[in-house]
Amino acid sequence: MKNTDSYRHLRGESIYIDDIPEISGTLHAVVFDSPVAHGKIKKLDISKAESLPGVVKILTYKDIPGENQIGAIIQDEELFAEKEVHFTGEPIALIIAENKRIARDARKLIDIEIEELPAIINPVEAKEKESFITPPRSFKTGDLNTGSKKSKYIFEGTAETGGQEHLYLETQGSYAIPKENGNILLYSSTQGPTSVQQITARVLGIPMNMTEVDVRRLGGGFGGKEDQATPWAVMAALAAHLLNKPVKIVLSRHDDLRMTGKRHPYIADYKIGLSEDLKIQFYKVEFIQDAGATADLSPAITERTLFHATGSYFIPNAEITVYSCKTNLPPNTAFRGFGGPQGFFAIESAIQKAADELKIPAYKIQEKNLIKDGEIFPYGQIAENTEAVNSWKTADRKYNIKKHFKEIIKFNAENTKLKKGMSVTPLCFGISFTNTMMNNARALVHIYSDGSIGISTGAIEMGQGVNTKMKQVAANIFSISTNRIKLETTNTTRVANTSPTAASSGADLNGKAVEIACNSLLKRLKETAAELLNVKYEEISLKNEYIYHKNKKTDISWNSLVSEALIKRVKLSEKGHYATPKIYFDKTKEKGHPFAYHVYGTAITTAVVDTVKGVYEIEEVKIIHDFGKSMNILLDKGQIEGALIQGIGWVTMEEIRHNEKGQLLANSLSTYKVPDIYSVPKNVFIEELETEGSKHAILKSKAVGEPPFIYGLGSFFAVQNAIKAFNPDYKPDFTAPLTYEKVLLGLYQ
Ligand code: MTE
Ligand code: HPA
Ligand code: MOS
Repeated sequence: MKNTDSYRHLRGESIYIDDIPEISGTLHAVVFDSPVAHGKIKKLDISKAESLPGVVKILTYKDIPGENQIGAIIQDEELFAEKEVHFTGEPIALIIAENKRIARDARKLIDIEIEELPAIINPVEAKEKESFITPPRSFKTGDLNTGSKKSKYIFEGTAETGGQEHLYLETQGSYAIPKENGNILLYSSTQGPTSVQQITARVLGIPMNMTEVDVRRLGGGFGGKEDQATPWAVMAALAAHLLNKPVKIVLSRHDDLRMTGKRHPYIADYKIGLSEDLKIQFYKVEFIQDAGATADLSPAITERTLFHATGSYFIPNAEITVYSCKTNLPPNTAFRGFGGPQGFFAIESAIQKAADELKIPAYKIQEKNLIKDGEIFPYGQIAENTEAVNSWKTADRKYNIKKHFKEIIKFNAENTKLKKGMSVTPLCFGISFTNTMMNNARALVHIYSDGSIGISTGAIEMGQGVNTKMKQVAANIFSISTNRIKLETTNTTRVANTSPTAASSGADLNGKAVEIACNSLLKRLKETAAELLNVKYEEISLKNEYIYHKNKKTDISWNSLVSEALIKRVKLSEKGHYATPKIYFDKTKEKGHPFAYHVYGTAITTAVVDTVKGVYEIEEVKIIHDFGKSMNILLDKGQIEGALIQGIGWVTMEEIRHNEKGQLLANSLSTYKVPDIYSVPKNVFIEELETEGSKHAILKSKAVGEPPFIYGLGSFFAVQNAIKAFNPDYKPDFTAPLTYEKVLLGLYQ
């Protein structure tokens, strides 16, 4: 089944924030932000800007009726800077005008004086100065000394990954409409409508029930709208609340790039020990995370780095520490993988480093250390139903890793201008919010008198196809056509207290809630049918929109059953609530069972480098992926392709650069290179691993949103290996992205 949105997307008919027909009198707002990374506000003069014809009002922190505080995990972020600014792009004021152009013109007329203070741009400096968001956090398992004694080989090094811009096609935006009696209807392009509702209530000083947040869909989120859709929504709500007029804010691409946080850059210092037979005996790693100026989601992202630091491997003795460092850059935030990819990159770099030193292919080390059932993750969870070895072996059987490696050696011996390299990337990604409390969801299902169905959930459709999956769940339970089912907008008055759609768990959590609600409805419908036919409940089933008795079709259709139920005054609306069973985590011990299950897979990547120009292509990526029992292979493969390309972009070309004053240099698509159609691998093969699936996955169809991002990492090592084939003196540093410039330098260093 195709994504139900695709037809309208293609025709340009889908509605995003900026497409919502405007109510007459709608005002438009533009944010005035800090031009410097750190400083004291000495003077803010808005008078000239405010007197520009068409400007209605300029708001600052002084206009906030409630708290000037938008921090979600830690309350350390002002909506509008009061006395100090902490990053370039930090909002200071909001200009509201008759149209956007006037608001932008007025922005130039605001007169600000800031006394600049020393800014920390580099997270290493932040660590030295102990400028932390939260105290350092560590996971420990086994004993490093024991591991060290058992190690014949010990290597150490550094692995570094850069930031990454989300580049959702729809920029951040919100449209606030005042309703009677001080209530507000808030359209927001957010992954977390409840956070928007909560923070709006806090800033406006009103109860949550006065704000209704409504979301049709997002033009992409990728984590960038889990937390950072909130400020713009709150600003629009504040302006609407104060002016009693509809107010819209849609950030321009430039403003969005400058004002929002990105993926966290990390620096990892590691030490790894291996025994003679290439078993990893210990791994010690210290991550320096560049969190930016405020906490945002960094404490949770820190946590997922800790969880994923040992990648797909069993490492008996490990010590993992993350320093979440406060710098004067925009607060970095959730981005597909949520700190996991940074952990994976470090362990894969450590293994590659060991392989380089031992002059063997990395796959020989990787294969020896894949986690198996019964082994324990550093966070205490016992590995169950692992598919690491199975997916590796399946990939090997299909694609013969050793033979492929030998063919590349042969190719390299016969070619000078072009050199090839390969890598293998095993995947093991934990599914559940690492914060146990967040793993719950609700759904509301109405069956209407004509047999059509309306479903509301807490899930946000952002292109990943969660609404399509919700339809499938309901259609499957009632055995009716998906055409009868509509996914309503995600709305805080219909489904309350939701977790954001994130952690790849949107379909699982909300799907299970839909399943629970639909099963209750099904039970009542079957009771109605049994009564109608005067037979036993157990003998009734629904199939293809008809009622079956003892597996024989009756003449009662879905529609007539629904009508009959209404005549009998049966309740045809239901709410489902789901909370993932079994999971827990004890933060005092840093041990527990945080994940409902893991997603596995193996990717084989081949890259080819042009040794004259220094350019490269990712020739091929072959993936064996553990979908469980995919409920929608078209959508799921789409997720893998998208995540793969996003991962490749991160490690090979996307480079977030700031100047020494902390101003973003990569502030447009001419200075920030993202993968385009020419940079995608020439061949991508994705095959399903035959597995049982997990009962915690919706219809045993495992979560797929973030995990395959990890497959992209293989392109970094494949390109490096191609360089090594040309230049035996190449001393790789494990610093991503591996841009064309670095490749050229590597070829001739
Ligand atoms: N796919 C599309 N097309 N657009 C997106 O914004 N976000 C990703 C992933 N796939 C995203 C996407 C991220 S970061 C997450 S957490 C999951 O989708 C969230 O959706 P799910 O929980 O329904 O998988
Ligand atoms: N993953 C993604 N987003 C989140 C998480 C997580 O584990 N926790 C809070 N937000
Ligand atoms: Mo995804 S980074 O959990 O929104």
